[in-house]
Formats: sequence, C-alpha cells, structure tokens
Amino acid sequence: MANLVVRELSPVFGAEISGLEPSIPLDDATLQQLRKLFDERALLVFRDIEVDRNFQNYLSYAIIGREPPVQNVPKRESLISNKAENGIAPFGRLLWHTDMMWSNEACELLSLYGLDVDQPSPPTMFISSANAWKTLPDDLRARVEHRDAEHVHDISYERSGGDAQVLTAKFDDDDSVRMPIANRHPRTGETLLYVCQQMTSAIADLPKEESDELLEELFQHLYTPENIMKHEWRERDLVMWDNLALQHARPNVESEGPARTLRKTFAPMPEMFKTMTPQFGRAGAV
Ligand SMILES: [Fe+2]
Repeated sequence: MANLVVRELSPVFGAEISGLEPSIPLDDATLQQLRKLFDERALLVFRDIEVDRNFQNYLSYAIIGREPPVQNVPKRESLISNKAENGIAPFGRLLWHTDMMWSNEACELLSLYGLDVDQPSPPTMFISSANAWKTLPDDLRARVEHRDAEHVHDISYERSGGDAQVLTAKFDDDDSVRMPIANRHPRTGETLLYVCQQMTSAIADLPKEESDELLEELFQHLYTPENIMKHEWRERDLVMWDNLALQHARPNVESEGPARTLRKTFAPMPEMFKTMTPQFGRAGAV
C-alpha cells in the first residue's frame, strides 16, 4: 500500500496528495483510499508526477469504481491546448460549467495533466455545486427546490457580460435537457445546485424575465469569489475532479501566449464525443 500524504486545499473541497506511485493496477488498499478521498474532497491534485495516457485513463475510471474501456478507446488524445493541432478550447475565457450538463450522461470525472506548461499559465478555477446547495439561503432554496432547469450546449454569448474574450462553442445540433435544479449526485447522494453560467438557458415554466433574475441570484451565490479555488498549472500536475459536484472555468488563454497543453480524460467517456466537433469562437467576434 502506498504511503499517501494528504493536504486539504480548502475547508470545503480539494486535496493535494503526494506519495502515489503510478502502476496499473494499483493495489486495492491504495485504490480504496483514493476513492474515499475523491468522494469526500471532489478534487485531487498530484504534483510533479509522471503519468502516461494509459495510467491517467485507468485512474479516472478506477477512482469512481468503473472498469476502464479496453475497446473503442479514442485513437487521439484529447488535448486542451493553445498550440497543439486540433486542440480543444484553444483560446479564450471559459465561463463556469459542468461538462455536458446539457446531456443525461454528464461525465462523473474529468482529469487534466500538464504536458507542456510555460509560465505564466492561466489557472483552472473550481467551485462546489454541492456546497452551494448546502449553503443556499432558505428563501432562495424554497423558490427552486421543486423546479427544473433547461440546459443547452452553450449560452456563453448571452452571458459574456460584454467580455469579448469569452469563448463560445457552436455545435451541429441543438440538444438540450431538462433536469431538477436540486439534482442528486449518483454516487455520493449529495444534493447539487445544478445550474451553470455557460449552459443553463432557463428555469423551466417561468417567464423569461423572472427566470433570468432567479438564475442571476443563483449564480451570485454559486460564484461568490471566496468560494473559488484556483489551480495554478505546472508541468507534471495531475488534477482529477468530480464534474458533477464541482464546476470549472478559466480566465482568458491567448493563442499567441505561453504554451498551455493539458491532456484531458473523461470518465465515463461519452459516446457522442467521438463524433462531436464544435466550432470555437469568441463572444466579441460577431
Ligand atoms: Fe470543461
């Protein structure tokens, strides 16, 4: 069993872990410890660790108690990058979101690994939707606890607040989904405040003006500055987080800025990602 050293990153979520020796498979005791930590802390950071794509993928699945796929593994790595060919989200600022909130099969876990990180590097930022529900004022809770919200691929343009650097993504279809605002986490059973800035288009069954005002109140609560944790990137950082319990965002990334290439994994890998190719643009480029 690995001798893991754990340091909490905030009172609410996040833990930095040292002492992990990557191998496939990990021994059961180590895996159990990591699973428990992941469910308790929602975000695990390993620094200065050598991790190949296989191990990153293996750990992403193992930590949520799933078998990594042996077939239909995408041939290409998913790279969040301002330099790599076909890099995902190659520039711009990303508003707060849970990946695939617009789908019934939102991924449970996301991970990023620092492959090529020149400084200064824009951070990835996190907030807790689980904690946001726990701390939601009673009056606001009463107004939303039996309501649904509608989520679409991307409504960044409308939410950019005039910031021309906000990245927008266009998809071939206009998939959307309606989900409870008080959404239950499938593994931990926690209630999540399940709306986000980038993808939630409306609160169902309310006039637009009322829906917009209520969403704004929820966003003010979710994204209170003191609730935000920033991960400052270095090469060989591995960051794994609960995509349902947490939301993420990032400040602007410039195409011509320092290299920032992060290898991404999704667990489970959504089927539709194998065919989806969004067009990236900026809110300012109309
Ligand atoms: Fe994302």
